[in-house]
Amino acid sequence: MTPILLSTLVLLVFSLCVNSAQLKGGPGAQWDYDQYNVGDWNRTYGITEPQQIHISISSQAEYAKVQFATQGEVHTAILNYWPKSSPHKSIVIEGGENWAFVDNGTAHHTIYLHNLQTLKLKPATVFQYKVGTKDSHGKVTWSKGEFEFHTARRGNTVNFVATADLGLVNAVAMPALQRLAKSHKYDFLTLSGDQAYDMADFNGTKGDEYMRFAENLFANIPFMGAVGNHENAYNFSHWKNRFNNVPFQKSGFSNPMQYSYDYKSLHIVAWSSEGAFEGSTNEILTSLNWLENDLKEANRNRKVRPWIIVLGHRPMYCTSFSSPTDGTCITETQTIREGLVDPATNTRQHGVEALLKKYKVDIYLCGHRHNFERTYPVYNGQVTSKSYHNAPSTFQYLVGNSGNYELTIPFNTTGPFPAWSASRYSGYGFSTVKATQHSLELTHYGVDNNGTHERVIDHVVVTKD
Ligand SMILES: *[C@@H]1O[C@H](CO)[C@@H](O)[C@H](O)[C@H]1NC(C)=O
Ligand SMILES: *[C@@H]1O[C@H](CO)[C@@H](O)[C@H](O)[C@H]1NC(C)=O
Ligand SMILES: *[C@@H]1O[C@H](CO)[C@@H](O)[C@H](O)[C@H]1NC(C)=O
Ligand SMILES: *[C@@H]1O[C@H](CO)[C@@H](O)[C@H](O)[C@H]1NC(C)=O
Ligand SMILES: *[C@@H]1O[C@H](CO)[C@@H](O)[C@H](O)[C@H]1NC(C)=O
Ligand SMILES: *[C@@H]1O[C@H](CO)[C@@H](O)[C@H](O)[C@H]1NC(C)=O
Ligand SMILES: [Fe+2]
Repeated sequence: MTPILLSTLVLLVFSLCVNSAQLKGGPGAQWDYDQYNVGDWNRTYGITEPQQIHISISSQAEYAKVQFATQGEVHTAILNYWPKSSPHKSIVIEGGENWAFVDNGTAHHTIYLHNLQTLKLKPATVFQYKVGTKDSHGKVTWSKGEFEFHTARRGNTVNFVATADLGLVNAVAMPALQRLAKSHKYDFLTLSGDQAYDMADFNGTKGDEYMRFAENLFANIPFMGAVGNHENAYNFSHWKNRFNNVPFQKSGFSNPMQYSYDYKSLHIVAWSSEGAFEGSTNEILTSLNWLENDLKEANRNRKVRPWIIVLGHRPMYCTSFSSPTDGTCITETQTIREGLVDPATNTRQHGVEALLKKYKVDIYLCGHRHNFERTYPVYNGQVTSKSYHNAPSTFQYLVGNSGNYELTIPFNTTGPFPAWSASRYSGYGFSTVKATQHSLELTHYGVDNNGTHERVIDHVVVTKD
């Protein structure tokens, strides 16, 4: 066989394998319990028993907001929390925000959602909490479990865990993520979009199952995620309702699609990359104008908070492909960077890359491709520096490999890779970020298919004068 024929054959066989490499439980499909779905979250819950519990924080972890769901309407929702070291200083919050969330499928499946915010929290404290519901006779049904989180420690170090693209099936990184959450070594968890695949499936019941499954993680570390394309059903209503406890009101955005917060040396923004793919021009402008104002304000505080990280789902740069005709890393990336073509002028408008550069954003933290890839500081397709010291532009960090029905996505094996692609890994994993006033240290860990083994895949330290 000639080398060309052979490589064509290899590519063909490879792409056939890639296309068929999927498990049950993808969008619209039934799923089966697997080795990662451990716990008793799939039991039968009482009508007013709290489920799907998850926590989020506002800037500096001054306040936490806990959200949970019940199958039926409740009289009064309750949050009870106390410092782990002083259980007698227990605080009870009653009432909160309560609403019915009606899935837009034909069954109009309805769950009842409850948001309860803490009072101003003491720093450097481990808190325990539980949630409950009280009936009209004052009888309380508590959550089966108690959960923990902590507020900002003394000193200027902050640590967080970064992931994306987490499924209900094949959630390979889940055991490690849960372990990290409970270790209290990490202050919060970012998740750059796409969960459950999809929450709206089967009249929204897959979303309930996923949120029960994820409780063991999301109730034990503040969830600070961004929205992805797999949350797009019914104008992103599952995202807007189920993650309504993210601090969007405090960030001046009208709904949970976008928000920002400060944590010691960090300013972190959760941005929706879906505008160009789903939204009207008006929505795109609302999204980007808010982002620009937020970044402008963050730059006024740059001495105190030198690092700005923007979370979005879709990448501006990637090199992987899932079939030879997959344009994700070609056309979609250009749309994110430069925006859509305006037919009137035939030029691209409302991209995000110029904004990130203008406001000196350090990292664009994304997912969408189910693998890991880090770029050099890059702008407009050109490497601006091979060093991460005083980088002249943003670099991108893609962590879409926590595990889901689609397995991981391989890279173009024929290469050569674009100069901006600094590091790639097509196994499962997650990242941790350690930030001080002087440096940002990013470590990517690989996990094996059995979810146990962790090893360092990639490590980079970012500094500036
Ligand atoms: C709950 O999950 C376990 C696996 O962890 C599975 O064996 C069991 O069948 C599930 N129970 C129900 C009621 O679906
Ligand atoms: C949604 O609910 C309707 C009405 O109960 C039912 O007919 C339909 O099969 C459900 N759809 C799915 C995908 O489960
Ligand atoms: C969802 O359903 C509600 C009420 O049933 C309706 O007001 C709303 O327009 C629907 N939204 C979408 C995006 O389908
Ligand atoms: C979708 O939601 C956005 C808010 O995120 C709103 O501005 C827009 O009008 C909604 N679109 C439709 C078609 O309802
Ligand atoms: C793989 O990379 C090579 C070199 O950049 C390119 O010519 C080829 O089209 C890529 N293949 C796919 C399937 O993306
Ligand atoms: C997990 O997988 C790795 C590599 O495949 C293996 O070395 C390790 O023993 C496995 N651990 C368990 C608990 O099965
Ligand atoms: Fe995605």
